[in-house]
Amino acid sequence: VTDDLTELVRLLFPAGVEVEAGVPGETFGRLFPEEEALIARAVEKRRREFRSGRILARRALARLGVAEAPILAKERRPLWPEGIVGSISHADGCCAVAAARRGRIEGVGLDVEVDGAVTQKILARIATPEELHRVGSCAGSARAGTVIFSAKEAFYKSLAAVHEDWIGFHDVRIEVGDDGTFRVVPIAAAVRSVLAGRRLEGRWCASDRWVFAGAVLARS
Ligand SMILES: CC(C)(COP(=O)(O)OP(=O)(O)OC[C@H]1O[C@@H](n2cnc3c(N)ncnc32)[C@H](O)[C@@H]1OP(=O)(O)O)[C@@H](O)C(=O)NCCC(=O)NCCS
Repeated sequence: VTDDLTELVRLLFPAGVEVEAGVPGETFGRLFPEEEALIARAVEKRRREFRSGRILARRALARLGVAEAPILAKERRPLWPEGIVGSISHADGCCAVAAARRGRIEGVGLDVEVDGAVTQKILARIATPEELHRVGSCAGSARAGTVIFSAKEAFYKSLAAVHEDWIGFHDVRIEVGDDGTFRVVPIAAAVRSVLAGRRLEGRWCASDRWVFAGAVLARS
């Protein structure tokens, strides 16, 4: 399962981005005490997910030549080692991580959702009228809605190293291609200015159970 998951996540990113994926609870390794402290009061499910994220992240970082060190967080946003950008995501039974050396690549965003988890009710809240229209006219509409949601989350995470401010779900429009790509069209001025001089490469894929979205923010 883990190898298949990792292969799927690899489809989302260009060369230079290291990925790891696995099943929380079946990802073995240790946390640093400073990391354990971040989940000291969390419920067991959350602890398992957090642990697997950190352990998988260290495996990806090792392939980038980064020495083992705690990955702390600021309001849950991971604080990656100097010169590294990355992203962690978990959804029921799956945890995935992507990381890269910061350079031309300025941000990496990754999101996993259970396929179909984005109900009509959620979609009505997070989708723009154009997105709703497209999903409505699409055969696999439950999956299409999940892809849009996941793409927005991945995009949001890809901005973490360059833009700490909140970006709302209606601040961008996602255009999902049937070739496994997606485009992020800025609606809000703040998004337009973050994307000026940058390129956003979005890709998505799905398994029988999950939808995955990856976003790479690069200097153009
Ligand atoms: C923070 C957020 C993106 C997390 O996504 P999620 O689907 O709920 O959960 P996921 O499992 O995919 O991701 C959780 C991981 O994201 C990472 N994360 C948390 N906050 C983050 C942030 N501000 N930026 C980047 N990564 C963040 C963490 O690594 C976290 O896992 P960890 O706590 O175990 O380390 C989401 O909860 C959120 O606040 N979204 C609203 C903002 C948004 O997406 N706007 C849309 C803009 S188009």
